[in-house]
Amino acid sequence: MQASAAIVLAAGQGTRMRSRVPKVLHPLAGRPMLTHVLESLAAAGIEHRVVVTGSGADAVEAAFGDVPTVRQEPQLGTADAVRCGLRRIPSGVRHVVVTMGDVPLLPADLFRHLLRQQAEGEATVALLSARVPDPSGYGRVVRDAAGSVSAIVEDRDADDATRGVDEVNVGTYCFEAAWLRANVGSVPASPSGEYYLTDLVAQAAGGGRRVAVVEAPQPELTTGINDRVALAAAERLLRAQISERHMRAGVTIVDPATTWIDAGVEIGQDARIEPGTVLSGATVIAQDAVIGPNAQVRDSRIGPRTVVWSSVVEESEIAEDVHIGPYSHLRPGCRIGPRCRIGNYAELKQATLGAGTQQHHFSYVGDAEVGEDVNIGAGAVTANFDGERKNVTLIGDGAFIGVDTMLRAPITIGPGARTGAGAVVTRDVPPGKTVVGMPARPIEARRRPRDAEAAPPEPPQDRAERAGSVPDRNPQQGGPAEPPDV
Ligand code: UD1
Ligand code: CA
Repeated sequence: MQASAAIVLAAGQGTRMRSRVPKVLHPLAGRPMLTHVLESLAAAGIEHRVVVTGSGADAVEAAFGDVPTVRQEPQLGTADAVRCGLRRIPSGVRHVVVTMGDVPLLPADLFRHLLRQQAEGEATVALLSARVPDPSGYGRVVRDAAGSVSAIVEDRDADDATRGVDEVNVGTYCFEAAWLRANVGSVPASPSGEYYLTDLVAQAAGGGRRVAVVEAPQPELTTGINDRVALAAAERLLRAQISERHMRAGVTIVDPATTWIDAGVEIGQDARIEPGTVLSGATVIAQDAVIGPNAQVRDSRIGPRTVVWSSVVEESEIAEDVHIGPYSHLRPGCRIGPRCRIGNYAELKQATLGAGTQQHHFSYVGDAEVGEDVNIGAGAVTANFDGERKNVTLIGDGAFIGVDTMLRAPITIGPGARTGAGAVVTRDVPPGKTVVGMPARPIEARRRPRDAEAAPPEPPQDRAERAGSVPDRNPQQGGPAEPPDV
């Protein structure tokens, strides 16, 4: 087929939304309404896409920087909007699709079908219609005795008989470009002073030209969003479609009704999404991950087999076999290594955790780089803010941060170092050293006096397991119990 283009009308005020935000920027499944329209047109293979802006044009143009736009000032109706849009359509284009920015659920195959009907059927215009239970507010498709379309009559101009017609104009058309160019400027003004695009249908039919009609097989996808009630209904529909697509691809969604997945989210096979979960933005969930119940993951990557249970993860990357939650918050900029355990009421921000590190029980780690197999005890805090700037905490591999430790950043805790319960650490701790107290000072390891000199500090897990105190590999219950060596 020869070159095709689409004009998307989005200059109207959208008064019924009662919003300060332009209607086409209102989000649906995490993306502006207009994005859905443009993506569907692109998926239909329509090369050139132009958006007609007007009311709220600055905001719309800022949000869609790389999409060609034309301003319509003032907004004199849909025919006038198309006349403006044609200015940005290359002259070689033979078929022009016109559709509305506030009709966001139309699937790509419907645009393709409409194009084919116009081009291959040698119609001057092909229009999309739908049979709906409540046609009020829409233009009605009026047919003659032979069943051919003779006109579209707007709701406000319709007599009672025409109001009874349940076949409505969706507002989506495909025109023969040359005819559209020649005729769009000659539409007469309506009584209200607006120029109706719909008048072109009567003009074509009256001139003996062919008007084709494609009736939408799923009328519920043709709704125009004029107010927030319709917006919520469209959201529900779109969410159901998205969940169904993932389930058909091998994802378990335990309760689609309470699961909210944005359009751009990717989910691997055999992942399980538990009830009350919200996956938003550019989130990627790997195979066999378990998310929820009641988890929120935004713009993050979650690795294979990782569990995110009743927790919030934002703009972070989580590797495989990690366990998060319940009730933890990973704020933007976290990178969590394989097999980490992040427990109840833990908060992290701009933090890297190496493989196998554990951070259980109401602790805060921010602006930190933490090595592998580190234990961060209950209540430990990186004091990263000195009142003016954020400072960095570095914790080496195998370090053991005892319960209730305060790490006053900037600070470095060497590999294998330990801090005692309640330590307030204000100076760097060398590798393998133990500090206790407030402010924390070094002590020699004296746990087993006879071999204290010879033995290096043990990894915390070994000690805990030998002591038989923590059978579930959950060793952060305490720090070294020794008194300070002062
Ligand atoms: C329009 C159709 C109607 C159809 C309905 C489907 C006309 C005259 N009527 O009515 O037959 O059933 O859509 O949803 O076309 N716009 C501009 N510039 C303007 C006016 C509007 O760009 O000067 C844009 C709006 O932003 C909107 C679209 O065109 O995206 C439709 O305008 P709207 O006022 O919502 O028309 P409807 O009354 O819904
Ligand atoms: Ca509308």
